Amino acid sequence: MSKNNGFSPGLEGIVAAETELSHVDGLKGELIIAGFPLARLAANATFEETTFLLWNGRLPTQTELDKFKQELADYRPLPPVTLNLLHEAAKANSTPMDALRMAAATLDLGNSDAAHHTTAKIIVARVATIVANYHCLQQGKAPIAPNPSLGHAANFLYMLTGDVPSNARVRGLETYLNTVVDHGLNASTFAARVIVATQSDLVSAIAGAIGALKGPLHGGAPGPALDTVFEIGSAERAEAVLQAKLDAGERLMGFGHRVYKVRDPRAEVLGAAAEKMFRADGDMALYELAKSVEETAVRLLAIHKPGRNLQTNVEFYTALLLHGLGLDTDIFTPTFAVGRTAGWLAHCFEQIEYGRLIRPQSRYTGTLDRAWMPLEER
Ligand code: COA
Repeated sequence: MSKNNGFSPGLEGIVAAETELSHVDGLKGELIIAGFPLARLAANATFEETTFLLWNGRLPTQTELDKFKQELADYRPLPPVTLNLLHEAAKANSTPMDALRMAAATLDLGNSDAAHHTTAKIIVARVATIVANYHCLQQGKAPIAPNPSLGHAANFLYMLTGDVPSNARVRGLETYLNTVVDHGLNASTFAARVIVATQSDLVSAIAGAIGALKGPLHGGAPGPALDTVFEIGSAERAEAVLQAKLDAGERLMGFGHRVYKVRDPRAEVLGAAAEKMFRADGDMALYELAKSVEETAVRLLAIHKPGRNLQTNVEFYTALLLHGLGLDTDIFTPTFAVGRTAGWLAHCFEQIEYGRLIRPQSRYTGTLDRAWMPLEER
């Protein structure tokens, strides 16, 4: 779409890539991942299956899946240089996203000549280890070594707590990671594609993408949505607390979306996953409270902003699900990165294949033909 004489602020409406990885339809509320409607894929696949699918364009056979899982498990332990960096970052009290960005940049040390797919496996395997190990360090504990007998999602939870998680919790996390694995040409994915389009390397692309994801306009802060649920505390207070926020001109966190004008399909999938997980292995009272906060919020928003169709977005149930899994709020965004890394890398492969440098133009709005003023006369 050409706006304002070829200029589209924020590249809104511009198609800058073709992809077979995911399709986002904001009007229909539809998200397709490599041909699968999100709900069908997210609730059934393991994270390794989804990653294989995105990287190879098809689901793996049992033999291929076993091999892929084994390779990822083998790559999980961090090299000493990465662990040392995390120790220093913890001493300096870096945020988990800053620690992840710095540590991710070390991941090809000693492997810089590896084939793309090998590097990609190293990155996916170790991004999870970085996030979990750093979380332990920040709590003053020793990092927990990966458990090679567990799958990617189960091992991530294990490295955070030292306990082998229940099947219900593992399923909850698999569904979350699958749900956030890819979402069209979002800012971090675009950043990764721009970087590899220069024929730079995958580690640079992932470090750049992590930097983009860190910003509050992208990786978001599901934390505040959860804070609201806790602030409300019991269902009968929901209406009064939410109405007071709206009256004060505040936005209700976890509602509304730039692209989705109907309910965010990811909220649907994560809501169902949260219910299943809380029912099997969690605090059902918290789930019921969140449901009632959601219903009240959507009802009040319809009255407050008629015609806007402000619906529940991905953040609301991300917060509930990750909290239910026992994750602290400060690792919600790094956990998003654990899932999205597989999508970033899939886009890198597509971009490398496509092989075209991404180089848009800018429109100069400065002055022309300035007179040069010697230093002593300024
Ligand atoms: N609570 C209350 N009002 C809201 C709202 C919310 N969550 N989201 C949007 N609105 C209102 C705006 O105030 C605006 O009203 P106005 O036109 O009378 O000023 C109108 O609805 C449209 O909002 P706008 O900011 O133009 O929509 P957007 O597409 O730019 O914003 C979000 C999308 C996500 C930034 C916005 O809905 C929001 O701030 N949501 C809360 C934060 C959140 O959950 N973020 C995570 C997103 S995944």
